[in-house]
Amino acid sequence: MTYTAAIITMSDACYAGKREDGATPAVSELLVESGFEVKETALLPDEQTEITEKLKEFASKGYDLIVTTGGTGFSERDVTPEATLALGGRSVPGVAEAMRANSMKYTSRAMLSRGVCVIAGKSVIVNLPGSPKACVENLSFVVEPLKHGIDALKGKVTECAR
Ligand code: MTE
Repeated sequence: MTYTAAIITMSDACYAGKREDGATPAVSELLVESGFEVKETALLPDEQTEITEKLKEFASKGYDLIVTTGGTGFSERDVTPEATLALGGRSVPGVAEAMRANSMKYTSRAMLSRGVCVIAGKSVIVNLPGSPKACVENLSFVVEPLKHGIDALKGKVTECAR
């Protein structure tokens, strides 16, 4: 089965053309390998209102998975988690917990990512850190179980016991 996805990358530097966006292609490649069709991408500055509006737009299109990259750290411009929580969706703390716990094997700085995961309508939104390496590491831990969650959200799973 093919799942649908969208990617939103948050970076003032990339938005201003001062740095190349490596996160979007890295995430896109992993999503395609994992059975997702990437329908749309967006590159935004670290502006909370703009991020929330784009998340709402993509969620209203019913994409199965909306992945964000960047803006999860401690800098004052890092507002992606707040922009995501502003949608008021259902929280999925375990996905963010799994990403941080597994990422600690790579770097203790993994604990600094404030990324969240929520269900907004028929879409699952997952915040990833900004570096392409961190994006791939984090997403690879959760992408397979997320497909089961998406199936359940679509009403395609009635029995979880194996
Ligand atoms: N997670 C993994 N797997 N690998 C990493 O290199 N970098 C961390 C963390 N999570 C990292 C990671 C660092 S250094 C920071 S500051 C936070 O993610 C937040 O990153 P962001 O500000 O780009 O969102």
